[in-house]
Amino acid sequence: MAPRPSPSILLTGATGFIGGTVLHSLLTSPTLKSLNPTITCLLRGSDRAAKLTTTYGDRVKTILYDGLDDTEAATAAAAEHDVVVNTTLGYHLPSAQALIRGLALRKASLQGNQEQDGVWYVQTSGTSNVADRPISGKWVESKSKSEGGHELDDLASDVYTYEHDREVREGPYFQRTTELGVVDLGLSLGVKTVVIMSPTIYGVGTGLFNRLSYQVPSNVRAALHHGRPIVAGNGSGVWDHVHVEDLADLYILLVQLMLEKRGEGIPTGKRGILFSGNGRHSWREVAQGVADVLYEEGKIANREVQEASLAEVARVLTESTGQPLTEELVERGFSSNSLTVASVARKLGWKPTRGEDAWKKGFRDDVQAVLEAAK
Ligand SMILES: NC(=O)c1ccc[n+]([C@@H]2O[C@H](COP(=O)([O-])OP(=O)(O)OC[C@H]3O[C@@H](n4cnc5c(N)ncnc54)[C@H](OP(=O)(O)O)[C@@H]3O)[C@@H](O)[C@H]2O)c1
Repeated sequence: MAPRPSPSILLTGATGFIGGTVLHSLLTSPTLKSLNPTITCLLRGSDRAAKLTTTYGDRVKTILYDGLDDTEAATAAAAEHDVVVNTTLGYHLPSAQALIRGLALRKASLQGNQEQDGVWYVQTSGTSNVADRPISGKWVESKSKSEGGHELDDLASDVYTYEHDREVREGPYFQRTTELGVVDLGLSLGVKTVVIMSPTIYGVGTGLFNRLSYQVPSNVRAALHHGRPIVAGNGSGVWDHVHVEDLADLYILLVQLMLEKRGEGIPTGKRGILFSGNGRHSWREVAQGVADVLYEEGKIANREVQEASLAEVARVLTESTGQPLTEELVERGFSSNSLTVASVARKLGWKPTRGEDAWKKGFRDDVQAVLEAAK
């Protein structure tokens, strides 16, 4: 009998914060090493591809494409792989669907072969999809905070139906539309999909390119630019968080189960939407946490948190990060409530190790990284 070929993984977003850290973990995981998968990164920029191969040698292959709109190249690349882990922008539906179409071709090419079961797609998404809109009042959950607040548990709740219902009643939100589009296409083409829907990701990444996250570093940049910390409303909205290396461990665990045990126990499709939180914070805590470090470092003279309108925070974040931010995005991503419980990941054996101390240390790490990057 011919030996079973090495399983193949296609990773997108390897130049990003999440993707770079996932790639590092894929390459350093002892369990994965024994499974000997081939790892290929789909990315843009021959200079970056060269940096990956110079650093990691023949452990990583690269495929270049013109970017997320180059759907033909994405489909062709996915068609050559068993597992696709997509960590580019969670709100670009055509590129995600192109990868799933490629996996459907892969599956068809394995017709009648049990390796068909080894075809999987992993999507990266975020919990702003299920956040409320507490300042504008455009989405308010019926369960009040005193009743424990609105909380979704990926084992106990029907997250797909919740999100689908919100798309209909609230209107589309690009990252949620993408996530639902991924699940729906996977179901219609018979490709198993798993979504990792993460909350605030903190910590410094371990990849070769962007090592910084978004929400905490943006608070650092906003405080530096504004001269003091600023929150939308009163900053009492509560979110979950996860350290980027703990999150990478979850990606690795899923890939390992997919390669080693045919994905045993991993829910897919409508039930395959997994949370990854491992701690909780309020937006005021983030603004105050980074401001305390900046104040100690002599970078700001006022560490008292200013309460402001969505428009004012959108202006400060846009100016300080150089990325245009609408009031809607500020409300969803910097001032809402989004409470999730990551039961499925834990049931599968995920054991995040970074707790409250790491979260607090993260403020200092992000301040240092932002100051360093600004030099
Ligand atoms: N960071 C968080 O806290 C967080 C939390 C929850 C969910 N998420 C989700 O995760 C996604 C990725 O987050 P991240 O923090 O890893 O972002 P990131 O560091 O900005 O990385 C984004 C990745 O997407 C690629 N990309 C962006 N535009 C592209 C284009 N037009 N063509 C090809 N590639 C493109 C980037 O490649 P280039 O280097 O070529 O630009 C990079 O590899 C987010 O969009 C969001 O949906 C993030």
